[in-house]
Amino acid sequence: MARRKKVYEGKAKILYEGPEPGTLVQYFKDDATAYNAQKKDVIDGKGVLNNRLSEFFMVGLNAIGVPTHFIKRLNMREQLIRAVEIIPLEIIVRNVAAGSLSTRLGIEEGTPLPRPIIEFCYKDDKLGDPLVAEEHIIAFGWASQQDLDDIVALALRVNDFLSGCMLAVGIKLVDFKIEVGRVWDGDYQRLILADEISPDSCRLWDIETGKKLDKDVFRRDLGSLTDAYTEVARRLGVLPSNSAPATKPHLIN
Ligand SMILES: Nc1ncnc2c1ncn2[C@@H]1O[C@H](COP(=O)(O)OP(=O)(O)O)[C@@H](O)[C@H]1O
Ligand SMILES: [Mg+2]
Repeated sequence: MARRKKVYEGKAKILYEGPEPGTLVQYFKDDATAYNAQKKDVIDGKGVLNNRLSEFFMVGLNAIGVPTHFIKRLNMREQLIRAVEIIPLEIIVRNVAAGSLSTRLGIEEGTPLPRPIIEFCYKDDKLGDPLVAEEHIIAFGWASQQDLDDIVALALRVNDFLSGCMLAVGIKLVDFKIEVGRVWDGDYQRLILADEISPDSCRLWDIETGKKLDKDVFRRDLGSLTDAYTEVARRLGVLPSNSAPATKPHLIN
């Protein structure tokens, strides 16, 4: 098979040209980074888990009418997606204070928020993805007011869906980050959910114990990231309850 053309390599994923125009293949790497890539490691099996989990959430979102870039999973590490023009924003939805919100505003981690709070960060690694206001987004043309209204509505639907999925398996959805992109259907443009939804981009706490089941396990050196993500996948029924993440062949005695 001819070698595929790499379109982009990021911190956690690689994008290749897809088989048809307007499609891409998204490859999930095992690389983990935090604090704008100041902390790095390779976590065996993370890419496989995130590929499966992102598929699970995107399929569910598509089923309730939230448009996403997901077309189909191709193999353990790759999925076929619709190519979009990414809006250069990280859209963060928060239900409980944690992370940068707690640091910035001095609100203790774990404090429930009176309503979901949506924040926008400008997606630029060199600047460390700074928090921006709607004013900046509109003034600099990253998105229009109409786009922002659509993005907020989409983000809140994703929040309700994900919160429900997680609650059903004893997990609190503390916060998450999404990316959104533009697609054209003829002259008509609309915004769809892109990138990934996985424990890399969510904060997930066990409701009973408060145990962290997301990338904070890596950021804060709290134990095995693979174990945490496997736990999430098992609870959601994405992995059979007795299987280890399949990253390499295992000897069977
Ligand atoms: N459907 C899509 N079409 C085009 N680009 C996408 C799509 N989904 C995600 N992307 C982009 O692909 C990249 C994914 O790789 P990732 O490793 O997360 O990169 P980064 O280090 O920039 O976060 C991101 O830059 C993301 O904005
Ligand atoms: Mg990314």
